[in-house]
Amino acid sequence: MGAAHVRSIILSMRDNFQREIYYLRLSVTDLCNLRCIYCMPEGGVEKRSHSDIMSVDEIAEVVRAAAICGISKVRVTGGEPLVRNGIVDICRVISGTPGIRELCMTTNGILLPKFAMEIKSAGVQRLNISLDSIDPDTYRKITRIGTLANALDGVRVALETGFDSVKINAVLIGGVNDGEIASLLELTRRYNVNVRFIEVMPIGECADWAEGRFISADHVLEIAPELRDAGIDGVARLYRLPDGLGTVGLISPISSHFCPTCNRIRVSADGMLKPCLHSADEINLRGLKGAELEDAIRSAILRKPQKHRLDAGEVSASLRNMNAIGG
Ligand code: GTP
Ligand code: 5AD
Ligand code: SF4
Repeated sequence: MGAAHVRSIILSMRDNFQREIYYLRLSVTDLCNLRCIYCMPEGGVEKRSHSDIMSVDEIAEVVRAAAICGISKVRVTGGEPLVRNGIVDICRVISGTPGIRELCMTTNGILLPKFAMEIKSAGVQRLNISLDSIDPDTYRKITRIGTLANALDGVRVALETGFDSVKINAVLIGGVNDGEIASLLELTRRYNVNVRFIEVMPIGECADWAEGRFISADHVLEIAPELRDAGIDGVARLYRLPDGLGTVGLISPISSHFCPTCNRIRVSADGMLKPCLHSADEINLRGLKGAELEDAIRSAILRKPQKHRLDAGEVSASLRNMNAIGG
C-alpha cells in the first residue's frame, strides 16, 4: 500500500461546523444532450475550447489531492457526463485513485445503452438517472429535445448491467409532472429502483419561477399514504410500498434542508471548487499541484457556510446554472 493511501485513510476532514466532508461531486462537462427547463437555457450553452475544461490528467490530480484531504466518495456529474470525451478513462482514473472507495454517476440515461458496460468496468458502482416524467409529451416538454423511449432504454440497460444501485431522480414541477407522482412511484412495485422526488431549488434557469411550480416533497405522502417509512439514505428520506421491490425517496432541500449533515464539496469542469451549492464562493484549482492543491482543498472545506437560506425565501446565490454545477 502506497504512502498516499495510508494518509488518505487516516485523514478525514471536518469543516467548521463539525461536519465530516468525504463526498466530492465532480462535474466533467457543462454540455448536455438535453435542455431541461430548470437547468439549461433553451439554446444550450456554447462548447468551450479544450483548454477551458480540466484535462483527464488535471482531474486525476484533483481527485488524488481530494483523497488525501479525506474524500472517499466521488460522484461524476455534468451537464451530462456521458457526452464528455474520455469519460471512461476519467472513471477508470478516479476509481483507481488510492482512498476512493465509492464512484457513482448522475446521468440523464440517454447514452447508457452505449456506455453502461464500459463505465461499470471502469469502476462506476452506482447510477442516479434523471427522469422527471414517464409521459412522452411531458418528458419532451421538460427536456425540450428528449425522447422518453431513449431514457427508458437507458434505465432498462442500467438495471440489466448490475450496478450496485439504480436511483431515478424526478424533480417535481407544479402543473407539469406533479400529476405523475402515482405512476412514477408505481415503478418501485416491480423494479428494484429507488424513485426519488426532489423539490425544485430556485437556482439559475428556475430562480424566478412562480411559486405554483414548487411542490413540497411531502405531497408525495398525501398522494400515496400507503408508503411505509424505510429510513434515511443520504439526502433522501426513504419509503416503500407495502409490496414494493424498490424504494421511494423524498429529497427536500427547501422544506427541510439537509445542510446540518452536509458532507460534500463540488468541483466544476473548469476547475472551480464550490464549498456550497448555493453560495457564490468559488476557489480556482487550476494550475495548482501537490501540496498547494491539497492546501487549497482543505481551506475550501473550512470555508463551507453553515447553511443556505432558500427556505427563508431567498434564491440561490450561486453564480452558475445547474448544468455548470451538476446538482
Ligand atoms: P447519492 O446519495 O450518492 O445516491 O446521491 P445524491 O443524492 O447525493 O446525488 P444526486 O446527483 O442524485 O442528487 C440528488 C438531488 O439532490 C439533486 O436534485 C441535487 O441537486 C440535490 N443535491 C445534491 N447535493 C446537494 C446539496 O449539497 N445541497 C442541496 N441543497 N441539494 C443537493
Ligand atoms: N432543483 C432540484 N434538482 C435539480 N436538478 C437539476 N436542477 C435542479 C433544481 N433546480 C437535479 C437533476 C439531477 C440532479 C443532479 O439534480 O434533475 O437529477
Ligand atoms: Fe451543503 Fe450548501 Fe447543499 Fe447546504 S446547500 S447541503 S451547505 S452544499
